[in-house]
Order: sequence, then C-alpha cells, then structure tokens
Amino acid sequence: MLRLDGVSKVYRVGAFGGRELRAVSDVSFEVGPGEIVSLIGESGSGKSTLGRMVLRLASVTEGTITFDGTDISAVRSPKAYYRQVQGVFQDPFSCFNPVFPADRVFTTIRREYFPDVGGEEWRERVDASLAGVRLDPGQVLGRYPHQLSGGQLQRMLIARALLLDIRLLVADEIISMLDASTRVDVLNLLGDLRARGLGILFVTHDLSLGTYVSDRTVVLRRGRVAETGPTDRVFADPLHPYTRALLDSVPRLHVRWAERPDGARPESGAPCPFHDRALGTPVRGDLAEPERGHFVACAGPDACPAAERPEAARGFPAGRFSTRGFLTRGFLTGRFPKRRSPKEREKETA
Ligand SMILES: Nc1ncnc2c1ncn2[C@@H]1O[C@H](COP(=O)(O)OP(=O)(O)O)[C@@H](O)[C@H]1O
Ligand SMILES: [Mg+2]
Repeated sequence: MLRLDGVSKVYRVGAFGGRELRAVSDVSFEVGPGEIVSLIGESGSGKSTLGRMVLRLASVTEGTITFDGTDISAVRSPKAYYRQVQGVFQDPFSCFNPVFPADRVFTTIRREYFPDVGGEEWRERVDASLAGVRLDPGQVLGRYPHQLSGGQLQRMLIARALLLDIRLLVADEIISMLDASTRVDVLNLLGDLRARGLGILFVTHDLSLGTYVSDRTVVLRRGRVAETGPTDRVFADPLHPYTRALLDSVPRLHVRWAERPDGARPESGAPCPFHDRALGTPVRGDLAEPERGHFVACAGPDACPAAERPEAARGFPAGRFSTRGFLTRGFLTGRFPKRRSPKEREKETA
C-alpha cells in the first residue's frame, strides 16, 4: 500500500540557506493494510520528517514514496489522496479552535468532502466514527475543547480521520502528551483500527510503547535506518548497538537502576552486525539480513573499524559564498575561522 524507496530529505538551513541538513537518508520500508509499523528513534532522528513527507506536508528530496503504486508527489488530486491518508499529531489541543465547539472538526470535513450528504445520514456517520474510537456522542458533541480531556480530543481527531474512510493513518507521537491510563486506551484503539484493515505508521520515541502495538519496527538513527524487522525479533534480539542502547534506556520494573548495563555506549568487542563476516549475513545495499526480514546497518564509526567515515568536509562552511565569505571575513576581522576536523563537522550537522 504505502512504499518508501530510498527516501531522503535535505533541508537548506542557515542565514542564506547555504548549509545542508540531511534529516533523512536513503530510507525504505512499506506499510501494508492491517499493519502497524512503528518508526522509532531519539528526538531529531528524522521520524516526523518522514511522516510529513508521507502526508505531502514536506517535499521529498530523493527517492520515491508511492501509495498503491502511484508516486504521491505526482497525484493529480491531493484531495483524493487525503481521503485515504490522514495524520494525527502529538498535541491535540493545538488542532482545536478554543472559541468553537470541538465537533466543528467534523463539520469542516463535511463541508470539504461530503457537501451532498444529508443531515440525518451525517449524524449517523459521526456517531459511527465516534463509536469507532469508543467515545460517547452525548459526552463530546457540543462541548468546547477546554471541557474535554487530551485523550478525548485525540480520539476526536482520529474519529475525524475515520469519517473519510481512510486506509492509512500517520500517528506522530500521538500518545506522548496523554497520561498513562489514556495511553493504553489509545493504543488499544490503534489495535482496533488495524483489525478493520487500516495501515498505521506509528511514530514514537518511546520504545516501551512501540513494542506494545506494532507488527514491524523501523529504528532510525540520524535519518538512516539502523535496524528493521518484525517487532518481536527486533526487541528480542536487537543487533545494532543503537537499538540496544535505546532498549537499555527503557526503565523496566524488574531491573533496579543500579543493575542496568552501563549506560548507552555501544559495548566494545561486539562484532559489527553489518561488516563482520563471521555473522555470515547476506548483504543488501547498506543493510545486512542476518535472519529473514530482519535487517541491520553498520554499527557506525564509534563501534566498527570498517565503518565509512561520515561524509566529510565539502570545502568551506557556508556553501555558495563560502570562499569569498571566508576570505573577506578573515581580512576584516583579522581572524580566520579555525579549520575543523570531520568529527567536529559531523557533530555540527548531527
Ligand atoms: N522545516 C525544517 N527546516 C530545517 N530543518 C528541519 C525542519 N524540520 C526538521 N528539521 C531538522 O531535521 C532533523 C529531523 O527532525 P524531525 O524529523 O522533526 O525529527 P524527530 O521527529 O525524529 O524528532 C532535525 O535535525 C531537525 O532540526
Ligand atoms: Mg518528531
């Protein structure tokens, strides 16, 4: 259904847009009907950028995203696309206008997509989609956003997406702002939606919750796929040191803090899951496949001697005006910028 092929995103940043920031590099994965795929990684790893590209809210720099085989950047009618693909985001409060009743989000959908549906039928549809997210119409319709909880508002946004009869939902950190008990309800709701055949791209930085719902997991590190596979395999047998570090940072009930393995550093001596031939892993592009469907990238320069150095030093810091800027600034101030090592540069772009 949804398919990403070698997708990259480069933002131009800095005063004159002279610096490039690679937020996403060469990411490929698929989401099928009735499947929850979680996209996991620490803050800044490019998860939201991917979600935004799938929702056509950000352009794709390289690679392609297709939905049912059609390149989404070439779809003729964005409206037809949004009938099938919708997003729900972290902060439900920001999606409601406080001066209108919360159910106005349904009215706008009706006006935009279903102007011909009669009042009676529309009410039935709203009731059905509220039931789909386990909300009681009597408790939410006609209420103002401040009279509803974050969990109720989040569910109303999902109900709004369901009115469109969507096939794919992009859920970006939708439970991060909810309290613990509501979180589980919303996660169970995602399970219900999957049972109805919906595909869900579930974006989260919280691994403990990622395991709870998803069928497949994509672990992102600095915009690249570090590891991907069936969720139970990735969590039972994490191969990449980054995945292990993420897992170790999840507090667990039965392990006391002091007994936890030492910090988030990659354990020294562990073989690189990509380069170590002893692991006998068939290699495909930048990812090795040590077991069927479970892919893993190189452990990276901190943990693998064979790792490619990060793209080093393309000349001077500030892109277009660099050489002249460098000299002029130097002559004017009498101080030339210090040459930085590739490591320092990498730190800057990380
Ligand atoms: N519109 C933008 N312009 C420039 N840089 C951006 C923009 N959006 C995100 N970034 C950068 O891209 C990287 C990935 O961001 P994001 O996808 O939001 O990460 P995540 O959701 O995993 O926390 C970050 O370094 C962020 O600063
Ligand atoms: Mg994000």
